[in-house]
Amino acid sequence: MAKQNIDWSNIGFGYMKTGERFVSNYKDGKWDDGILTEDATVTISECAGVLQYAQTVFEGLKAYTTSTGKIVVFRPDLNASRLQDSCKRLEMPTYPVDKFIEAIKKVVKANEDFVPPYGTGATLYIRPYIFGTNPVIGVKPADEYQFRVFTTPVGPYFKGGAKPITIKVSDFDRAAPHGTGHIKAGLNYAMSLHAIVTAHEEGFDENMYLDAATRTKVEETGGANFLFITKDGKVVTPKSNSILPSITRRSLVYVAEHYLGLEVEEREVFFDEVKDFAECGLCGTAAVISPVGKIYDHGNEICFPSGMEEMGPVTKKLYDTLTGIQMGTIEAPEGWIVEI
Ligand code: PLP
Ligand code: COI
Repeated sequence: MAKQNIDWSNIGFGYMKTGERFVSNYKDGKWDDGILTEDATVTISECAGVLQYAQTVFEGLKAYTTSTGKIVVFRPDLNASRLQDSCKRLEMPTYPVDKFIEAIKKVVKANEDFVPPYGTGATLYIRPYIFGTNPVIGVKPADEYQFRVFTTPVGPYFKGGAKPITIKVSDFDRAAPHGTGHIKAGLNYAMSLHAIVTAHEEGFDENMYLDAATRTKVEETGGANFLFITKDGKVVTPKSNSILPSITRRSLVYVAEHYLGLEVEEREVFFDEVKDFAECGLCGTAAVISPVGKIYDHGNEICFPSGMEEMGPVTKKLYDTLTGIQMGTIEAPEGWIVEI
C-alpha cells in the first residue's frame, strides 16, 4: 500500500483518524473474536459504566519503521500484562495476552500506510483500551465491556522535540497511597487535567508530582516517569507504589546496565536531592526521553548543568541506544521487538 501523503517530520502528538481499528465486546462472561472496522465512533448506553463511574483503562505503545523497512512494535507483551493489572484493579475482565498481541498486529498491519517512514522522527502510536458499556446506576462494576485498539501517527510529545523542557512542582496530587497511581486508568488522567492546565497557564511544560502522603519524594509527571543522572554518571529513578511502572523506564534501566555499563539505583528519591543531579529526563512511550532543563519549585529554580539547549550526555546515550533498538540499528534483547 502507498504511504499516506503526510508531512511526517512535522506532525505533533495529536489524533488523526486512520483506516481500521479493532473492536471486541465482552458479554455473558466472555470476549468475542473481535473485528476490524472502519467505524471510528462508539455507540453505548447513556448510562454506561464508563460514562458514569469512569470504568476505563488504556495502554500506549508504538509501531516503528526500522532502518531496513520492517514494521515492528516494542514489547507489546508488557502492555498486555499491564492492561490486565489495570483491569483487575478496576474490577474489569482482563483481555488475554496472546489475543492482545494479535489485535495489535492486525491493527498495525491494516494501517501500514500510516506508519511513518524511518528517519522522520514520527511513529505510529497505538492506543488499546477497555471500558464498561452497559447501564450502571448503583455504584458497581459493569457486566459488559468493549476492547478497542486504534492508531494515530505522532511526532514528539513535547513541542520542540529533544529541547529541554521546564516543569513545575505541582500543588496538586496525582495519586494517593494505596490508590490507583500504579495502573493506567483514565481516572488518573482526569485528576491531572486541572494541574496540567494550570501549569501550562503559568508557562510550564509539565508537572512534577510529589508523593501525596509526605510531599517530600519525587513521583512522576502526568505522563512519564523520571530518570536522573548523578554527577558521577549513575542513573537514579524513583521507586514508588503509586507511579505507573513505565515500560520505557524498565527498558532504559536494562539498557543502562547491560548496554552502557552504568550503575542504576531504583529507590525513593527525595525532592531535596534533585538539585544535586546533573541531568533529568522524562521517560515514556509518548515522551521517549524528554530532557528536563529546569524545575520550578515555589519561587526557587533548579537548573540542571545540562542546560536548556540540549540533552545531557548520559541521557543522550540512553536515548540513542533505546531508539536504536526500536529502529533496528542496535541489536535488541530477546523478545523486545515484534515484527508485524
Ligand atoms: N507514567 C504515566 C503516568 C504515563 O501515562 C506513562 C505513559 O504510558 C508513563 C509513565 C510511561 O509508561 P510507558 O513507558 O510504559 O509508556
Ligand atoms: C504514553 O506514553 O503512552 C501515554 O499514555 C502518556 C500519555 C500522557 C500520552
